[in-house]
Order: sequence, then C-alpha cells, then structure tokens
Amino acid sequence: MEQQKGKSPKESAVETRYILMPQHANPQGTAFGGVIMAWIDTVAAMAAQKHAGCEVVTAGIDSLIFKEPIRIGDHVVLKASVNYVSRSSMEVGVQVTREDPYSGQKAIATTAHLTFVALDENKKPTPAPPILPQTQEEKRRYENAELRVQARKELLKKIK
Ligand SMILES: CC(C)(COP(=O)(O)OP(=O)(O)OC[C@H]1O[C@@H](n2cnc3c(N)ncnc32)[C@H](O)[C@@H]1OP(=O)(O)O)[C@@H](O)C(=O)NCCC(=O)NCCS
Repeated sequence: MEQQKGKSPKESAVETRYILMPQHANPQGTAFGGVIMAWIDTVAAMAAQKHAGCEVVTAGIDSLIFKEPIRIGDHVVLKASVNYVSRSSMEVGVQVTREDPYSGQKAIATTAHLTFVALDENKKPTPAPPILPQTQEEKRRYENAELRVQARKELLKKIK
C-alpha cells in the first residue's frame, strides 16, 4: 500500500465554544459531566476525522479529569488536536476551558485523551496518515501520548 502523506496536528485541530445553559447543568447549577463528555467526544471526533480523512469511531476515552466546575452562563471552550498516530488508531487530546464572558477570567476545567480508529469502506480498521509534530508543544504532546499508548496496549494485553 502506498505510504500516506503525514499531517501536522495544526492541520486537523478543532476549536469550538458553547455557553453552559440550565439544561446542561446538574442540580448544583454546575456542568453535568455527561454533557461535557459528549462535547469532548464530538470535538475530538472532528479532529480525528480531519486527520484521517475517513470515517472514525471512538475506541476509548481515558484520563478524563474534571479539574474545576463550570457554572451556568460560562463560555465553554473546547480544543482538540491529534497527539499521536499508531497504525489505525489516533490519540486525540482535548482541553476544556471555562471562561467568564464578562471578566474574561478563564481556567482549564477538564482534560481528556481519546482513542479513535480510522475505518475503511467495510468499517474495518485502516491506516491513518502519520502525524508530524512541528512545534515544541506538539512534540511534547507526541512524546507523552506515546507513553500512554504503550501503557494502554500493555494493560489491554494483560487483562485480555
Ligand atoms: C475500535 C474497533 C474498530 C477496533 O476494532 P478491532 O477489531 O479490535 O481492531 P484491531 O484489534 O485491529 O485494533 C485496531 C486498532 O484499534 C486499537 N484499539 C482497539 N481497541 C482499543 C481500545 N479499547 N483502546 C485503545 N485502542 C484500541 C488497536 O490498538 C489498534 O490500533 P493500531 O491499528 O493503531 O495498532 C472496534 O472495537 C469497534 O468497532 N468498537 C466500537 C466502536 C464504537 O461503537 N464506538 C462508539 C461510537 S463512535
């Protein structure tokens, strides 16, 4: 098979923004985790689709950390980029920032790492293009993702 052309994380990075409305909240008036998880999966899937150039599925979500609550009325900014590509699987990192729309005060509220798998027309795993980190930050994310990918593979092997 012909070697696919690599892409930088910047080429497929996605940023999106929501406002936290009452229907997104729990009884305490802060974000319901399930809603944030759905937004994370959506923005990460878009980055994976752009990188792979084909259909993708979520294979796993891990290291999902809720660091700070998000309040009704906050702007919720989600940034996703592809950290690492193995063969058909891609690790996408997502950072969720909550932003007070009036003062502009912001803080990282949630972070997550997701694995997507590129699929061919028969819905079978297919190679994704290599990822080519360019900046220092992209290289740092790549190296950290490589450690997580190895750890995941070893864990999956052990528990099978
Ligand atoms: C993800 C899925 C396509 C993998 O299929 P599979 O038959 O296990 O395929 P393989 O064993 O060949 O694995 C394919 C790749 O997925 C990776 N993978 C499989 N399960 C994984 C998991 N739980 N976490 C991380 N990576 C995983 C493998 O390491 C492999 O990576 P590589 O090609 O980069 O080396 C399959 O399990 C599936 O369809 N799951 C359901 C997906 C879904 O419905 N998602 C929710 C809605 S989008």
